[in-house]
Amino acid sequence: MTIDPRLTASSPAAPISENGLFQADVWDGLGASPKALPAKYFYDAAGSILFEQITVLPEYYPTRTELGILDERGSDIAALVPEGAALVEFGSGSTAKLRCLLRHLPGLSAYLPVDVSGDFLREQAEALRGDFPELTVEPVVADFTRAFELPEGFGGRALAGFFPGSTIGNFEPGEAARLLDVFGRILGAGATLVLGVDLVKDRAVLEAAYDDAAGVTAAFNLNLITRINRELDGEIDPDSFAHRAFFNEAASRIEMHLVSRRAQTIRVAGRSFVFAEGESIHTENSYKYTLDSFRALAARAGWASLEAWTDRDGLFSVHALRREG
Ligand code: AVJ
Repeated sequence: MTIDPRLTASSPAAPISENGLFQADVWDGLGASPKALPAKYFYDAAGSILFEQITVLPEYYPTRTELGILDERGSDIAALVPEGAALVEFGSGSTAKLRCLLRHLPGLSAYLPVDVSGDFLREQAEALRGDFPELTVEPVVADFTRAFELPEGFGGRALAGFFPGSTIGNFEPGEAARLLDVFGRILGAGATLVLGVDLVKDRAVLEAAYDDAAGVTAAFNLNLITRINRELDGEIDPDSFAHRAFFNEAASRIEMHLVSRRAQTIRVAGRSFVFAEGESIHTENSYKYTLDSFRALAARAGWASLEAWTDRDGLFSVHALRREG
């Protein structure tokens, strides 16, 4: 997700409740069949740095391609956002894409980043105020996967939403539709939503993006084991697991797994979990859409397609949607 890692549940200073939730999720996930862990736990301090390294890998096309589309289509996007509108970003990760969009939207009156990490938001807000002195920057500390209230004074204003990075791809399609509907309830009828959506493509290109030659994505996946060992008193041998990423064509998603290289029993916070050789922990889904399959999903969630832009090679898409009703 786009939540910055550095300030979520990962630091030793994290509140007990966050660590308690991590433990509960790990126990649940390793106790389930098939075994699975929530992808949001990738982003501790080390995982966030690894993700930033992923975004500049030659095989990982999404980040640079999306930035290219936003830059090239900036004036088309600006035409769909009313003068004086406030822009709400759901999650706030690296600011490169936002800064690109802001340069094309000089008429915006305010920027409202929504994130669970208040410290990170405030830091980022300071930097933005310095670079865009005309813009009101009003961070909102909230979990954007649940309905939340915008701060007072923004209710009457024209609103636009921004959800880059194909973060929508981490959600099961039903969950993704529910999330888009939550966004629609927050932004209201007539709002514009600009979001990045990764596209279905050749299997080899997809699989290389999630299993790069330098092994950065493997390290990112395996870092979950290191995090469990550190934060949950785990005794797992990281070398006993292998990174695996493949395109599940029937489900139209990249799946990442950690595959046990041998039969073993691992211990996490005092509980044991048995693995057969080759048994895996499913750690992430990254759904891939066609322009039409994404438009259909958006329509189910109450959003009409205004426009969709892709790069020359059709690798990635940016959609502009309008909330109906
Ligand atoms: C940040 C969720 C969009 O799915 O491409 C990158 C995460 N995982 N490499 C993605 C990720 C492995 C990324 N998202």
